[in-house]
Amino acid sequence: MKYIAIITGASSGIGREFAYAIDQGMSSIDEIWLVARRKDRLEDLAGKLHHHSRLICGDLSSRITVNRIQAILKAEKCRVRFLINAAGYGILGDFEKCDRKDETGMCDLNVRALTDLTYVCIPFMGKGSRIINLASSAAFVPQLGFSVYAATKSYVLSFSRSLNMELNKKGIYITAVCPGPVKTEFFDVAEKNGNKTMSLKKAAMTTTDVVVKTALNDSFRKKEVSVPTLTMKLFCIMCKVLPHRIIMKVTSLLYR
Ligand SMILES: NC(=O)c1ccc[n+]([C@@H]2O[C@H](COP(=O)([O-])OP(=O)(O)OC[C@H]3O[C@@H](n4cnc5c(N)ncnc54)[C@H](OP(=O)(O)O)[C@@H]3O)[C@@H](O)[C@H]2O)c1
Repeated sequence: MKYIAIITGASSGIGREFAYAIDQGMSSIDEIWLVARRKDRLEDLAGKLHHHSRLICGDLSSRITVNRIQAILKAEKCRVRFLINAAGYGILGDFEKCDRKDETGMCDLNVRALTDLTYVCIPFMGKGSRIINLASSAAFVPQLGFSVYAATKSYVLSFSRSLNMELNKKGIYITAVCPGPVKTEFFDVAEKNGNKTMSLKKAAMTTTDVVVKTALNDSFRKKEVSVPTLTMKLFCIMCKVLPHRIIMKVTSLLYR
């Protein structure tokens, strides 16, 4: 039996940081599978890891990539110790003005691919296996100018919390990670149409190491939701206490 960790979005940002953290901290893992489209990035990362790694280069929006992962899992008698679903993107801008493919692509990647890969991996998990899903603080309340992205992250949060309860009896634990803004290439993609992130949001920016360290600690403590910084913890409480309509009205003034 081979014990593995699967990390999507490993070519950049939070996914890459998870690869380093698992490489350094988990001697019980035999192999780290790195999933993303950019092969050169994955090769570069693999060269820096101590663990043996397997590169799975492909577009997760296509079922072919997930089917490939399923075929290897079946062929090689693997036990998935960690599944980290970090691949994802968001595009800023009014829904009707953004590219149709970009908008629906968020649903394909952030929602469908994450769900499909989770489904495929569960039969290869057992007691002590863990899933870490990258949601976002955008999951807490609808966000103007980020409508589809926030909706996909609400899905990830809701899905992760209920699946966690379903799988607890098997000793499998799921943590949904809900950071605010994190310093990664995420914003290069998000702002590609020229729409800028609110400066208030950028002021709350944190780093990948804070997000990943908190997420792994929370995962080991069997927490269903991981919110890395105090600012976002307060934002989370605010979203539970205040009517969403009011929060949306205030953010709409900042957005325009
Ligand atoms: N940065 C933030 O402020 C922030 C805040 C909250 C939540 N998050 C969430 O955290 C996760 C990681 O984001 P990040 O900040 O690390 O962003 P990032 O640096 O842009 O990384 C995104 C990763 O997703 C991969 N990816 C994108 N499209 C893909 C596709 N079609 N198929 C396969 N892989 C794909 C990219 O790899 P390739 O381009 O090589 O395919 C890259 O490795 C995302 O789910 C994001 O929504 C980010």
